[in-house]
Amino acid sequence: MSTTGLVVDRGLEGVIVGSTVLSNVEGKIGRLTYRGYDIDDLAPNASFEEVVSLLLYGHLPSTHELEALKRELASRRALPEPLVAAMQSVPKTAWPMDVLRTIVSGLALFSPANNKGEHVSDVHGAIELIAKMTTILAAWDRIRRGLDPIEPRADLSHAANFLYMRTGKVPTHIEEDAIDTYLVLLADHSFNASTFSARVTASTRADIYASITSALATLTGDLHGGAASASYNNLVAIGAPERAEQFVRDELAKGNRIMGMGHREYRVRDPRAKHLDAIAKKLSEHRGDTPWYAIARALEDASIKVLREAKPDRQIYANVDFYTAPVLADLGMPGDEFTCLFACGRVVGWSAHVLEQLHDNRLIRPQATYSGPEVGPYIPIAQRAELLAPS
Ligand code: COA
Repeated sequence: MSTTGLVVDRGLEGVIVGSTVLSNVEGKIGRLTYRGYDIDDLAPNASFEEVVSLLLYGHLPSTHELEALKRELASRRALPEPLVAAMQSVPKTAWPMDVLRTIVSGLALFSPANNKGEHVSDVHGAIELIAKMTTILAAWDRIRRGLDPIEPRADLSHAANFLYMRTGKVPTHIEEDAIDTYLVLLADHSFNASTFSARVTASTRADIYASITSALATLTGDLHGGAASASYNNLVAIGAPERAEQFVRDELAKGNRIMGMGHREYRVRDPRAKHLDAIAKKLSEHRGDTPWYAIARALEDASIKVLREAKPDRQIYANVDFYTAPVLADLGMPGDEFTCLFACGRVVGWSAHVLEQLHDNRLIRPQATYSGPEVGPYIPIAQRAELLAPS
């Protein structure tokens, strides 16, 4: 839309608002790369810790660098006791994303400040947030179930430690790999809504805690990270693969969208979906007793078929959130925690983007066209009733 010569782009679709060296989304061919490495190579080969190093330090680490990063992550896992007490004092019905956002914000209260009282936004602050977010999520999962949180273990990988803190059991390799690869796939995605939020906040010179809290708030909505939880609710509502097609038709008839389908950038299947599809299949075979993968497969097929009939001009395929649902459900996670685990992966990208923004900062401050009333005189309160009364 054009008003007085200015172009208004609702949703900023196609608008370039910055430049990044961190990741590249090629929507037409369905390719996602982190600093030039294709996620198709990273997902099966690189650990989450290697990807943290790649995004924060700019290169894949040497053995020595990787060991140092693992030690730092492990040393930063434990939460300040008052924040654990705060989680124990909130209603058990509190939504996990609200708890995660609040406690991440609370971490600022316990983080070191420089002599001007400012938190330093640096790579160590980023590692602190990455290390602690899975601890917060695992602790809340237990607290809401009436259990005591489990202390993190320094001898486990980031992924294995997360699963251990939820259950007290060291996970199998299949389970550990599933979470590790999930976190790799979610680590960054260029200027998505939550990352842009983090960058806008950082551009005001607010610190990394404030920036990540902004990002968490933005991720919550079901057009973004909230779709993972919403997608799980669909699997539960469908209940059996043969009911998938009717479900899609009913949802569209009600004017609803199929959560986990469609993407602003990708015009083919989201490249992350194929890895998560394969992981979900493997986990489902490993467990052998859950319907989630079979329902998800049927739902994807039915959605593509019915959406193609309804919207022949639009290519709508599964996105990253779609197969998140069967993967995390088969790992025993409750659906309302899925968006939180998305955040635990994406915090790597958010932090790297905050540091990139600060490295060459310019306040992000766009403009709007004004479409309100013409300028008029102030109306004294005594005259308002008669002037503003409906005729
Ligand atoms: N289910 C049904 N219809 C969908 C759809 C979906 N999942 N995704 C897009 N569409 C339809 C829209 O209804 C719209 O139809 P219309 O032109 O008749 O109004 C058309 O496709 C274009 O949608 P639009 O919202 O303009 O596209 P977008 O680029 O903004 O879409 C999403 C991107 C992600 C917001 C959208 O695909 C969506 O809402 N998906 C479901 C939520 C989701 O999974 N989010 C996670 C993204 S990673």
